[in-house]
Amino acid sequence: MIRPSTILLAFVMSLILSTCFNAKSAERKIEVSSFGKTKEGEAVSRYLLSNEKGVEAVVISYGATLVSLKVPDRNDKAGDIVLGYDSLDGYEQDKSYFGATIGRYSNRIAGGQFTLHETVFQLPKNDGPNCLHGGSRGFNKRVWVGVDRSRPDAQVLELTYLSQNGEEGFPGTLKVHVTYTLPLETNELGIEYSATTNKGTVINLTNHSYFNLSGTASQEILDHELLLHALKFTPVDSTLIPTGELRTVRGNPFDFRKPTAIGARINQNNEQLKFGRGYDHNWDLEKTGTNGLQVAAEVFEPTSGRVLEVLTTEPGIQFYSGNFLDGTVRGKGGQLYDHRTGFCLETQHYPDSPNHPKFPSTELKPGRTYRSTTVLRFSSRK
Ligand code: BGC
Repeated sequence: MIRPSTILLAFVMSLILSTCFNAKSAERKIEVSSFGKTKEGEAVSRYLLSNEKGVEAVVISYGATLVSLKVPDRNDKAGDIVLGYDSLDGYEQDKSYFGATIGRYSNRIAGGQFTLHETVFQLPKNDGPNCLHGGSRGFNKRVWVGVDRSRPDAQVLELTYLSQNGEEGFPGTLKVHVTYTLPLETNELGIEYSATTNKGTVINLTNHSYFNLSGTASQEILDHELLLHALKFTPVDSTLIPTGELRTVRGNPFDFRKPTAIGARINQNNEQLKFGRGYDHNWDLEKTGTNGLQVAAEVFEPTSGRVLEVLTTEPGIQFYSGNFLDGTVRGKGGQLYDHRTGFCLETQHYPDSPNHPKFPSTELKPGRTYRSTTVLRFSSRK
């Protein structure tokens, strides 16, 4: 026979366990708050993701933008390693694409024009003669809808945007999701993209975070040591459109196959560096045999000891050394962002692919799903 005291004990135990479990799952919920309203009156949410290893990521629904990313240095001191603004107004005015999700087509399309199955599509020319980062009002200037899809092992934020047929000149109504995943036990931030369309279109999504691993954007990024797993890059013309050539990095300042300070060769007398005003090029990533996720880039910052690894399923990566930052943009904490105080590593298909049949295709057909994954992995060393 079961004694009443045993039943009572079992009841008390289950109560304690369920309270602990609820407290734990409550801890794992993404913290949501308001980030204000856009000029048109749309409400913008702020999402705080955090894990047990000291990583904190803030994402806003405006542009599905990564606003801040705090990671530990070699002494376990957390520092914010991305550039951005304190308020929504900053992001609405922004022309640098700090932390934003870029779409429908990252980087440039020559003459703002491409042909798909014999139809010519004209896009806005918002960068000299070319279309840059999806046009005058790309995905970075749209309000996305966020949903907390956290699991016991990770905080997961899914953001969705419906891009209408003809928006910024692109064909097809496109439903696009960006999912940020912060595992509780691992220091990495996953960024996964997926999209479907009702008409043939082109797509190339990326995240445009500017990193400064020192944790202070008052310092230039020229001492960061960069490794790129790439043997070739796509040289550009003076308007930064790829010529179509895949050029070896051997014997020129584009060789980052061994860790090299970003600043070591940036001012060399080189036509490509002149066109970019520094590095602003796409590297053709080496394939390791599988088509899965692989390490594309590794960056080490000597003063903090922070290490960033970028993994991707994409064939290319745009390394941009913050050449257009000029000390006129006021960012977080009132900081003026000077020349080369942040760098971007934009995982992507190659710029202007719709006009280069030999580049990996960026066409998305109805009935197919576009998928792309990037993982930012953080660690530190002496
Ligand atoms: C481009 C740069 C551009 C920058 C905008 C980068 O992805 O490659 O040329 O100036 O975005 O901030």
